[in-house]
Amino acid sequence: MDHVNDDTMVTVDRAGLWDAEAISDVAAATFPLACPPGLATADIETYIDEALSDERFGDYLSDPNRTVLKAVSGGQIVGYTMLIAGEPTDPAVARAVDLRPVLEINKMYVLSGHHGSGVSTALMTAALNHARDNGYAGAWLGVNQDNARAQRFYAKRGFRTVGTRTFTVGATVCHDYLMQQALEPAESS
Ligand SMILES: CC(C)(COP(=O)(O)OP(=O)(O)OC[C@H]1O[C@@H](n2cnc3c(N)ncnc32)[C@H](O)[C@@H]1OP(=O)(O)O)[C@@H](O)C(=O)NCCC(=O)NCCS
Repeated sequence: MDHVNDDTMVTVDRAGLWDAEAISDVAAATFPLACPPGLATADIETYIDEALSDERFGDYLSDPNRTVLKAVSGGQIVGYTMLIAGEPTDPAVARAVDLRPVLEINKMYVLSGHHGSGVSTALMTAALNHARDNGYAGAWLGVNQDNARAQRFYAKRGFRTVGTRTFTVGATVCHDYLMQQALEPAESS
C-alpha cells in the first residue's frame, strides 16, 4: 500500500515493528491535541504511558487484527492511523454503528506543524482504501465531543455522527461522538 500526495510529498505506507518507537513519539506528541480542555495533565500522561508507549506500539504492530499506517514527509513520520478489525466490543458502539463488517479507525494523529497540509487526507484516503480493499461495508470512529477540528475533518471525509460513548483517559470519563460511513465495494479489475 503506497499513497503519494504530490502537493505535500507525503507517503503513506504500512508501518512495521521497527517503527514502534518513532510512532510512539508521534503519538505522545499528538494525543494531548485531541483531549478536551481542562483534562488533567496526569490523566493524559497516564494514558500515554499505558496506551501509547513503545511497548504498546510493539503489541499493536504485532497484532494481526490491527493495521498501523504511517505518513512520512521529509524522511520523518509525521502522522499515523491505526485500524482495528472485528466486531465492536463496546455495547454503545455495537448499537450505534450499524454497518457490518465494519473497520474501526482507532487513531488518526498528525503532528501540529502538518495540520491542514494534506497529510491527514492522505492517511484517511489510505485507511478507507484499506477498508474497501478488505471488503468492509463501512468504517467507524470515536472522537471527543470537544474536538471540533477532528469532527470537521471527519465530516469533510464523509463520516456522520451516529451516537455517543464514554472513553476513559487516566481516571477521567470523557465523552465521544461516534461517527461512521458506508463504503462502496472496491472495483474489481
Ligand atoms: C484530526 C486531524 C487528523 C485532522 O487533520 P487536519 O490536517 O487538521 O485536517 P484539515 O485541516 O484537513 O481539516 C480540519 C478542518 O477543521 C477546521 N477547523 C480548524 N480548527 C477548528 C475548530 N477549532 N473548530 C472547528 N473547525 C476547525 C479547519 O478549518 C478545517 O476545515 P476546512 O477545511 O473546512 O477549513 C489533525 O487535526 C490532528 O491530528 N489533530 C490532533 C489529533 C486529533 O485530534 N486526532 C483525532 C482524534 S479522534
